[in-house]
Amino acid sequence: MTPSRSGVFQSAADQRVEKFTASIQVDHRMYHQDIRGSRAHAEMLAHVGLIRPDEQAQIDKVLAEIEGELDRGEFAFRTELEDIHMHIEQALIDRLGDVGRKLHTGRSRNDQVSTDLRLWVRDSVDALDRAIGELQMAFVGRCDADRDVVLPAYTHLQRAQPVLAPHYWLAYCEKLDRDRSRLADCRRRANVCSLGVAAVAGTSLPIDRQRVADSLGFEGVARNSLDVSSDRDFALELAFTLALLATHLSGWAEEWILWSTSEFSFLRLPQAFCTGSSIMPQKVNPDVLELIRGKSARVLGNLQALMVLVKGLPLAYNRDLQEDKPPLFDSVDTVLACLELAAPMVAGAELRRDVIAERLEEGYLDATTLMEHLIQQQVPQRTAHHLVGQLVREAMQRKVPLRQLPTDVFQAAHEALAGNVADVLGVDAAIRRFVSYGSTAPPEVEFQVAYWKNRLACNS
Ligand code: ARG
Repeated sequence: MTPSRSGVFQSAADQRVEKFTASIQVDHRMYHQDIRGSRAHAEMLAHVGLIRPDEQAQIDKVLAEIEGELDRGEFAFRTELEDIHMHIEQALIDRLGDVGRKLHTGRSRNDQVSTDLRLWVRDSVDALDRAIGELQMAFVGRCDADRDVVLPAYTHLQRAQPVLAPHYWLAYCEKLDRDRSRLADCRRRANVCSLGVAAVAGTSLPIDRQRVADSLGFEGVARNSLDVSSDRDFALELAFTLALLATHLSGWAEEWILWSTSEFSFLRLPQAFCTGSSIMPQKVNPDVLELIRGKSARVLGNLQALMVLVKGLPLAYNRDLQEDKPPLFDSVDTVLACLELAAPMVAGAELRRDVIAERLEEGYLDATTLMEHLIQQQVPQRTAHHLVGQLVREAMQRKVPLRQLPTDVFQAAHEALAGNVADVLGVDAAIRRFVSYGSTAPPEVEFQVAYWKNRLACNS
């Protein structure tokens, strides 16, 4: 009979129930966290006199041994033990008898599961934060080499205005930065100790929750036992943060898939991150990027699963909560795998400068700058917009870029265009006209690159 069935139960569980209710196949991954929590709990029990110091020493030693066996894959899992918490406790009891039976004093699996998951989320957030930092570094690492490359910026996927390539790279750094800050926020709310709330109402035993919180590095102790034994907000917050991060990665992957097509030809992807076709010998396919885009679907689905899981649960612990781990673990694994591949792809891709430059004349990327040139000469914005629109139409009819229109066409359009339109037209001239904060103006981009280099060096 398993520890939780002794006493009131007179029969063992139906084997189908054992199988149906087990979570060991998923939660075994939390063994480090479980052992950390148990060691801290036992230390506290000894401190307040609920167990003797020599008993604590034995528990501590055997827990460390069990951890070693789990690390080396030598630990035997048993089907009748539901989860990692029961496995570790039973192994302790098997080796220490009554001393092992004392570990569960003043705690329940409800607070134990919650604590382990909080520790696991904390560890995962730290790993994710590092991996995002690597990807940001890959983007920033390209900025110096790509500093003079001008790319078209798109709106509605139509050519819009010229931007410097680092402006693109830093746009992704910004998105990833918000992901990091959401992770930090999620970590802050996960970083509260739930151990010691016991099953639901607290305990009549003289435990010291602050001591456990301190030894596990938690920033605070949960105030309400009812709340915290049902709380999975931190898991949902992580799932949301990952869904948004996966969405950012998916958008980037889509962009680079487009950029690597022969239609765009902006980018050559590193071959080690591409795959071939079994039938078409010429193919070099961007499968990794496609899968980064594709896997975001599962990460979004995991968030949905978790939201639906907790919707409508009355206080406090309900067994439904055991279902939180598969989607959460999957989201963390999936996003970490995507980040791990994204960073070397970003570092190793090659911009096809010649092809990009050749086609910068297309799309009238300098039209807005020409309009602003008129505005600076007191032409009302709506009028300037209309005039430049007409000039673009004229250029389209003649199949030339704006800067190749004859001077008399400019002059006829507006007297303010009689002089030096050459200072405004063409992407290089247009780029130099930008001045606003956060724009693609070269000094502005330079400044932002320096900001990011400094920021990432400080964070790493
Ligand atoms: N394996 C369960 C889980 O992960 C343990 C729950 C224990 N609590 C309970 N009342 N059965 O959630």
